Amino acid sequence: MDTKIYNIDNQKPDKNIIEEAASIIRDGGLVAFPTETVYGLGADALNKDASAKIYAAKGRPSDNPLIVHIAEFADFLRIAKEIPREARLLADAFWPGPLTLIVHKNEHVPYETTGGMDTVAVRMPNHPAALALIRESGCLIAAPSANTSGRPSPTLAEHVAEDLGGAIPVILDGGEVGIGIESTILDLTEPVPMILRPGYITVEMLEDVIGTVKVDPGIIAADSSIKPKAPGMKYRHYAPKAELIIVDGERAAVINKINELTDEMHAKGKKVGIIGTDETVAAYRGDRILSMGARDDEDAIARHLYRILREFDEEKADLIYSESFSTPRIGHAIMNRLLKAAGHQILVV
Ligand code: TXA
Ligand code: MG
Repeated sequence: MDTKIYNIDNQKPDKNIIEEAASIIRDGGLVAFPTETVYGLGADALNKDASAKIYAAKGRPSDNPLIVHIAEFADFLRIAKEIPREARLLADAFWPGPLTLIVHKNEHVPYETTGGMDTVAVRMPNHPAALALIRESGCLIAAPSANTSGRPSPTLAEHVAEDLGGAIPVILDGGEVGIGIESTILDLTEPVPMILRPGYITVEMLEDVIGTVKVDPGIIAADSSIKPKAPGMKYRHYAPKAELIIVDGERAAVINKINELTDEMHAKGKKVGIIGTDETVAAYRGDRILSMGARDDEDAIARHLYRILREFDEEKADLIYSESFSTPRIGHAIMNRLLKAAGHQILVV
């Protein structure tokens, strides 16, 4: 299959392009499109055959449910059994935006879309092209991140083309996404609302609107015997091919440790990759050194993370050392991804 890649103006997406993409969705096909978090791979959420195509294209395990993307709050009523009070409050506060809410599904949502679950994940993306595509198609759009299962989520259309080129008819190219890590997932079917995946919307932001929120113990534990509730969170994700080790501590101690480890690896003839920041990259001796951005610019760090992990996938590094990014606001979400990429290998100095 030939994959057409259309450049779109994010603020004013070309009507003809949106119409062509929307008709593919209506006909049960797949379209990759930008959102504010990462690129999504969309299909008609209420058409089970269309949803099944998403799993096939990504090589995604069939028990891993999809997020349904909507453009108006009224769309929520088409798929939810009931709308909890918290959902209305949170939608008012954060939609459109990087927050996914899990509620009980109604009979219109096929089990192919929810990976066999009786609940459904719903989000209204804050991206004019995504919203235009949903509206023009008249469908609700099921969309996981538009990567091959197991690879880092795509933050550029080029990443989508690398993974899915030849397998899908259309990619809408809106350039680099704004946030770079996937939406926060909040489960409203629990007695106390529970975060199943950390993201740009933090616990504190949610608690300001609905009071107490818990965090799924399964996503914090390095211990793999505690299973996360979101099926997708249990897979080893985001991982570059080379082994990745995080080094945490005071800046000078981290630089010394990484340089010492690099020297040891060089003595064995190994190639070393390093993930640092604008402030530190000049101090390292690795073979390929990439900066996540300025240390105090958390938004830049989140936006660059997946691109950097992908770059190391192409490099012939034998080992990657990364600084730690437990930054104040979204550090929890950033470290959740980085720790998974590192298989939880962290060295405290
Ligand atoms: O930012 C995002 O959320 C992006 C963009 C494209 O919107 N989408 C995304 O989808 O990250 P995906 O499929 O890569 O991740 C969805 C996660 C998976 O971990 C899945 O297991 C979980 O959401 N999930 C979906 N429905 C669920 C449900 N009913 N119960 C528990 N977890 C659910
Ligand atoms: Mg994903």
